[in-house]
Amino acid sequence: TFLVKTDQSIAKIEPKMWGVFFEDINFGADGGIYAELIKNRSFEFAKPLMGWSIYRNRQKEGEVLVINRKEVNDANPRYLQVKRQTDDFELINEGFKGIGIKKGIRYDFSMLYRMPTLGIKMILQLKTADNKIIGQTVLTPSQTNGATWQKQAANIIATETDPKAKFSIIFQGKGDIDLDMISLFPSDTWKNRPQGLRADMVQMLADMKPGFIRFPGGCIVEGTDLANRYQWKNTIGPIENRKMIMNRWNVEFAHRPAPDYYQTFGLGFLEYFQLAEDLGSEALPILNCGMACQYNTGEVAVLDELDPYVQDALDLIEFANGDINTKWGKKRADLGHPKPFNLKMLGIGNENWGPQYLERLAIFTKAIKAKYPEIKLINSSGTGPDGDRFDLLNTSLRNSKADFIDEHYYKPADWFLKNAGRYDNYPRNDSKVFVGEYAVHADSKVIGSNRNNWQSALAAAALMTGLERNADVVQMASYAPLFAHVDAWQWAPDMIWVDNLNVYGTPDYYVQKLFSTNKGTDVVSITADEKNVIGQDGLYASAVTDKTTNELIIKIANTANQTQTINLNLDGKKKLKSKASLDELENNNLSETNSLERPTTIAPKTTTITLKGKRLSLVLKPYSFNVIRIPFN
Ligand code: AHR
Repeated sequence: TFLVKTDQSIAKIEPKMWGVFFEDINFGADGGIYAELIKNRSFEFAKPLMGWSIYRNRQKEGEVLVINRKEVNDANPRYLQVKRQTDDFELINEGFKGIGIKKGIRYDFSMLYRMPTLGIKMILQLKTADNKIIGQTVLTPSQTNGATWQKQAANIIATETDPKAKFSIIFQGKGDIDLDMISLFPSDTWKNRPQGLRADMVQMLADMKPGFIRFPGGCIVEGTDLANRYQWKNTIGPIENRKMIMNRWNVEFAHRPAPDYYQTFGLGFLEYFQLAEDLGSEALPILNCGMACQYNTGEVAVLDELDPYVQDALDLIEFANGDINTKWGKKRADLGHPKPFNLKMLGIGNENWGPQYLERLAIFTKAIKAKYPEIKLINSSGTGPDGDRFDLLNTSLRNSKADFIDEHYYKPADWFLKNAGRYDNYPRNDSKVFVGEYAVHADSKVIGSNRNNWQSALAAAALMTGLERNADVVQMASYAPLFAHVDAWQWAPDMIWVDNLNVYGTPDYYVQKLFSTNKGTDVVSITADEKNVIGQDGLYASAVTDKTTNELIIKIANTANQTQTINLNLDGKKKLKSKASLDELENNNLSETNSLERPTTIAPKTTTITLKGKRLSLVLKPYSFNVIRIPFN
């Protein structure tokens, strides 16, 4: 029998408790949620024509060059020059991993161009892999001011669906033309915003009602070296001025080749803040602290050259919160968002450690707290979380009264089960914990090579009951990484998988969603024989009440391979209604998972259950996670 004390709030739950971690890894942004379909639209990838191929009718005619004007345009140096065009030639883009095209949807093309004389006609085509045309239009560039770049747009309605289409421009007529920012977006983006985000991917996040969104990473914050760190100021303003870099995840990883992976920053900081606002989530940006990824070069900025890094942090707060009379507040308004974003927290460093981190963190903290004492700072605890390095850093951060300490763990399922009580003895009135990245990895020695399955999700659910029970200490948590493309991933497991047209949630997605959509407002105690339920008979439990919806919500993970009948004694003065609901995630095969073909093999099933007064008898299926919602008056 479990005893639930429904009247006694033992901790408040932060509205932002369960959030999401976004990083452009596994084609999460470029080639993923950022809906641009053209790969290497501005010819800035390492090889300028990556993603493009050219077909000419007659080899000798005309000339195609990539011009580099670095001295006058450092942000976007290259463009394509087509000279002495005299006959048909074709420029084809392969897309990121092909181009996902949907029948009946409008595709919006745009380009920057300049040309001295009229005479060129462009036929824009969507084509299947075997060259069947599935949509086309004709665009005649109409501005002949040879010196200035013009923008021209056109659109194509697709006549068929193809997940692996390509895009082609056939040039006809005579003349010269310079081209840049050759772009194609679907029109059915999130909120139908032009050049926006993939609606199906954002919807998956919206359905979770995340309390916060952490961005832009992850290791890409740090970069393999400082030159390739994430710099938010390069990610705002006109997209043709956003200086792109090679993605830190353009690497051979888990025996997979590097995938031509760049960051165009089309999804930049304004878009991240906008996304947070759309989702009703707190924005949680993480900034580079003057240290590159310590798994790579470990390059650090010297202390007396840290000012630009610190200034970036101060300016970011002004960009998010300043009124339009401030320099960066005005910039935000000029970019179309006069209303401040109400930023409340900021991360300094991602996975950084050592005395070098502490020295740099101290400089950031002093400067930020002096100007913005209300902003909560997230401090990195490096990696771990077990081991001397973690303990040393954690102690130092606590001594310096860190607002939040960011713990990351990628560990096997049994570690998660053993650590469900991890926070029960953490100091209560000290620094708060942000579990900023976590996921069950079947074997920590081959990190990054595993797919999610029901075992990983169930073990995460068990641990999360411990996070929830300790919501006074652990005030935020986010699973990581969030997205992965089935044809372009570097790291697994991941919460949500996509191809060019579809998206599905893993069992971990449904566990995360059940927690975040049932977070409640107050933790109440649930015990068996006066002890927290942490693994007795393989059961893990937590309970909350929600004062806004008047519900008691109980979460129980049954990690045992057997059916268990439990009796709940719901003690207290609340008038519980007799009809309650049970959301059940279960499968008797721990290796079972979801896939594009079977996206909801493991997904919650809801049934109605009946209380007898203050008693509830429940049959928990083997390997199941159960969320019980009991309304009260
Ligand atoms: O989530 C994947 C990576 O794991 C993150 O980029 C990094 O912070 C961690 O090591």
